[in-house]
Amino acid sequence: MEFSYHNPTAIEFGVGQIKKLSNLIDKKQKVLVVYGGGSIKNNGVYDQVTKALENHEYLEFSGVEPNPTIETMNKAVKIVREEKIDFVLAVGGGSVIDGCKYLVAASLYDGDGWDFLDGSAEVKKALPLGVVLTLAATGSESNHLTVLSKKETDEKRMYFSNHSYPQFAIMDPSVMATLSDRQLGNGLVDAFVHTSEQYITHPTSTLVNDGYAETLFRGLVKLANTWEERRTHTWLENLMHIANQALNFQIGAGVPQDWSTHLIGHELTAYYNLDHARSLAVVQPYLLEVMHEDKKEKIAQLGENVFGISNDNKAVIKAIEDVYNKVGVPTKLSEYVIDDKVIENVSSALTKNGYTAMGENGNITLDKVATILTMSMK
Ligand code: NZQ
Ligand code: ZN
Repeated sequence: MEFSYHNPTAIEFGVGQIKKLSNLIDKKQKVLVVYGGGSIKNNGVYDQVTKALENHEYLEFSGVEPNPTIETMNKAVKIVREEKIDFVLAVGGGSVIDGCKYLVAASLYDGDGWDFLDGSAEVKKALPLGVVLTLAATGSESNHLTVLSKKETDEKRMYFSNHSYPQFAIMDPSVMATLSDRQLGNGLVDAFVHTSEQYITHPTSTLVNDGYAETLFRGLVKLANTWEERRTHTWLENLMHIANQALNFQIGAGVPQDWSTHLIGHELTAYYNLDHARSLAVVQPYLLEVMHEDKKEKIAQLGENVFGISNDNKAVIKAIEDVYNKVGVPTKLSEYVIDDKVIENVSSALTKNGYTAMGENGNITLDKVATILTMSMK
């Protein structure tokens, strides 16, 4: 075992925590409050945030779209610079948070901020960032990953930086009451796939990583099996907690990882605008089938320890699909209106981004991607 792990984000979890904002942000700092399309105005979050900041100087920037774009966030960069903002507060889901992670870095960078996304520059400094989370799914609230799109070229790229960790994340599960069933289902699936990508590789001897990942899996299976209780506080707070733990990269520390489902899914979103989680659910089951030889031991372990299935890996993959279907997320690309260029589009984007040998063994090549997408379209 060998790993470095440092996560500096303070978590404030529970009902009523938003009021802590008033002390979490220094009153001398000029704040930019950033949010999305306005859901926070319908569920009391906006009112709670503005109340908590009544003794702070702050401005607002709204309109960050799902799958945030650099075009939108560069408008916020201009405001941060012109208004000499000291602190950015992201109020929303993964999209607003990722947009703000880019914002705090790009505002202090002289070149084109896309340099972070295409890998030609590293983030060297960033403004401080805080988060009020309104949607449980990505784990972005306490990790160092940023995913951003460029409308101009239909690209969706990502980068890691230790400067992207939020200083704090306020997680009040009661604000999830206004989420649609679709967003709740998406959140559960995203968290399941995050756990998978740090677990379904080849066996290791890391008892902590395996055991904790299996705990998260079992929690998500239980939430899917009690989908009818999704409007209860207990259900929502567990989803919020699990989704957070699934992608703060602790379960991935020191073990092999395979992010190929995400890499392929990101291209489906870039071209066909599938919700992030939905793009994953139409890839993962077929990827597990195609890559079975490499992943069979961990699929069997998942079967034993999570689903209670022995010696039947086909049934384990089917059980994963059942989890997604139970929460209303389809597992077939053919459920969406997709043109016949999908393989060509995804393959050329993966090639452009240098993802032609993905997976823990570097053998998920473009011919395998084509097989996976063909299976999903049948
Ligand atoms: O924009 P508003 O009006 O706020 O509406 C949002 C949006 O339309 C709405 N919403 C959020 N909280 C709500 C609410 N509606 C009612 N009540 C609430 N409490 O939900 C819609 C979707 O929001 P979004 O932020 O896009 O969803 P999510 O959190 O799933 O984020 C998806 C983005 O995160 C990226 C994805 O690729 C995608 O761009 N990811 C980021 C990761 C990371 N940084 O670690 C990892 C993930 O794998 C993922 O790639
Ligand atoms: Zn994800």
